Amino acid sequence: MSPFQLTRTLPEHATDAALRADVLQGLGRTPKMLPPKWFYDARGSDLFEEITRLPEYYPTRAEREILLARAPEIAAATGARTLIELGSGSSEKTRHLLDALPELESYVPVDVSESALTGAAEGLLAERPGLRIHALIADFTTGLTLPESPGPRLVAFLGGTVGNLLPAERAVFLSSVRALLAPGDALLLGTDLVKDESVLVRAYDDAAGVTAAFNKNVLSVVNRELGGDFDPADFDHVALWNRECERIEMRLRARRALNVKITDLDLLVRFEAGEEVRTEVSAKFRQDGVRAELADAGMALTHWWTDEAGRFALSLATAV
Ligand code: SAH
Ligand code: AVI
Repeated sequence: MSPFQLTRTLPEHATDAALRADVLQGLGRTPKMLPPKWFYDARGSDLFEEITRLPEYYPTRAEREILLARAPEIAAATGARTLIELGSGSSEKTRHLLDALPELESYVPVDVSESALTGAAEGLLAERPGLRIHALIADFTTGLTLPESPGPRLVAFLGGTVGNLLPAERAVFLSSVRALLAPGDALLLGTDLVKDESVLVRAYDDAAGVTAAFNKNVLSVVNRELGGDFDPADFDHVALWNRECERIEMRLRARRALNVKITDLDLLVRFEAGEEVRTEVSAKFRQDGVRAELADAGMALTHWWTDEAGRFALSLATAV
């Protein structure tokens, strides 16, 4: 069998239908919102990679520091023979985990971005000819059917992407992850931590404007996929700290009153001057909250590791 397989679990028309439904619903309501998964076409995935290298965007560096320091402990605690990674993107940091897992036979990266999956697999195949890679183009929020693979299995969800789900979505998602775990399997979860507001806001509103371009990319996706006529220049990038909910919110704010036509949906969307579309939440966590959310989903926190500066955490959890 070839060491690389790419499976699309969602037919292309299902992705199209999901985008249509999200745009119809999200731009038809007040306040307007769009789910963050639509950022990640090929350009959005590239922009995210650029974000990870920005001086202001600390989460990637902080999580890499933890992975480098703790990978041997993760390997010893899990003995994983399969690594399943949700929202794997470029799999850049995952390399530290792959290097440290001596029993690993199979890697299953899961992502909505085909370009990210194929780009990551190309590099990994060349570097690790013995590793079997089964990449899945799939939405991790809509229930996952995973390929057969040897246990114990480690499910990794890195980068703090769990914070991009709303609390109710997180509860459903974590329960669905729990359902994937057999005895002896584990979840490795990356969470960004609550910290000084100015540090957080800078990480989501960088001086070079890369995050602004990433945020506006969702408008280009709607234009291309649904025949929209958004002009990204009509919108300002907004990143603010919602103290009550302990999350960064990214929004796009209309610079003037305008109408946007979305031809494929036969839809005219009215924006008042200053009106916003919320495009992403990025929740920041505390240890007690992570433990409680895992427990509510039927998992127990067994390890909690942070970087030296205490900015980011990796949790290891097992099913109870
Ligand atoms: N794990 C990587 C990438 C994080 S970026 C890191 O830590 O750097 C978030 C990734 O999740 C992107 O690659 C994006 O395409 C993917 N993603 C976002 N929503 C998703 C969803 N609902 N289902 C599957 N993948 C998703
Ligand atoms: C993928 N996710 C964890 C990133 C975050 O930090 O919430 C996405 C991102 N949005 C703006 N910058 C990065």
